[in-house]
Amino acid sequence: MSGARNPADYGRVAVLLGGRSAERAVSLNSGAMVLEALQAAGVAAQAVDTAHDDAFGLLAGGGFARAFIALHGRGGEDGVIQGLLESIGLPYTGSGVLGSALAMDKLRSKQVWHAAGIPTPAWAMLRSAQDVATLRDSLHYPLIVKPSHEGSSIGISKVDSAAQLLPAWQAAAAFDSSVIAEQWISGAEYTTGVLDDMPLPLIRLETPHAFYDYAAKYQSDTTRYLIPCGLEEVREQEMQALALQAFRALGAYGWGRVDFMLDEEGRPWFIELNTVPGLTDHSLVPMAARASGIEFGALVLHILDSSFGRDRRMATEVQHAKA
Ligand SMILES: Nc1ncnc2c1ncn2[C@@H]1O[C@H](COP(=O)(O)OP(=O)(O)O)[C@@H](O)[C@H]1O
Ligand SMILES: [Mg+2]
Repeated sequence: MSGARNPADYGRVAVLLGGRSAERAVSLNSGAMVLEALQAAGVAAQAVDTAHDDAFGLLAGGGFARAFIALHGRGGEDGVIQGLLESIGLPYTGSGVLGSALAMDKLRSKQVWHAAGIPTPAWAMLRSAQDVATLRDSLHYPLIVKPSHEGSSIGISKVDSAAQLLPAWQAAAAFDSSVIAEQWISGAEYTTGVLDDMPLPLIRLETPHAFYDYAAKYQSDTTRYLIPCGLEEVREQEMQALALQAFRALGAYGWGRVDFMLDEEGRPWFIELNTVPGLTDHSLVPMAARASGIEFGALVLHILDSSFGRDRRMATEVQHAKA
């Protein structure tokens, strides 16, 4: 648990931020907040922007004891940097290679959830303009069309009729060769932060926009965050348990955020898992942590603790393999 360690026990920490993904700007914000909080706690933390040419040499150079990953999107949240850190033997926060890669891929997340009995909206793959032409009259509208590998609602649009499908596919395909058309869920949106492999209180998101788009996430002051979320306690606990199952099904580890919706009949539908969700002071995991008495500075130390947990987990796996 946090608080049990001295700042010096963490050694020198590289806070990985920025990077080259479409979410670079958000990551710079998250990383700056993390860096400030770690330094305020007395931890020897230094920012490393992975978009800079010398970043990987710096990490491999041996001066760091662990890495705090504050990168969002491709290259940082998708297993790529996790693999590099494994290879150079530098412990890091959060999910490993597999969990990160699976969670970044919305199509494969849905396939695993579907197989594991975790409800996720029906979907179709749109690999080409030809797929759009073939499928457009047989799909059930409304739909939501999204690139498989982006975040921050980039390239996403709601599609109310067959006529809107091609422009929506084009908008998503600009970011990704893999595009999914998912059944639109009418209802309420919730998110479950996970910390120390345990669910935090749910947050209900409300926006006057058609969905929680980029503006609703980062620019608008009309988005409402309800915590407590308004569900009955027992229902909230059920949803937290299901969200934790969804987290584990994708092999995620330590901390993250699972997003789901409840339709008008109250049925849950899992949308996505973020393995490195936002860490600014108005982000969702910090909000949920605060509601359970964990302030931002403590939250960041809890997350940093997951870099020790990884060593323990790897040791357990080795023991299992020997048994
Ligand atoms: N099946 C769906 N039905 C209704 N709204 C959805 C659905 N999937 C996503 N959304 C809305 O779009 C937003 C962004 O979608 P999401 O899959 O989480 O992508 P991103 O990785 O960009 O956050 C969600 O927060 C939600 O508001
Ligand atoms: Mg999302």
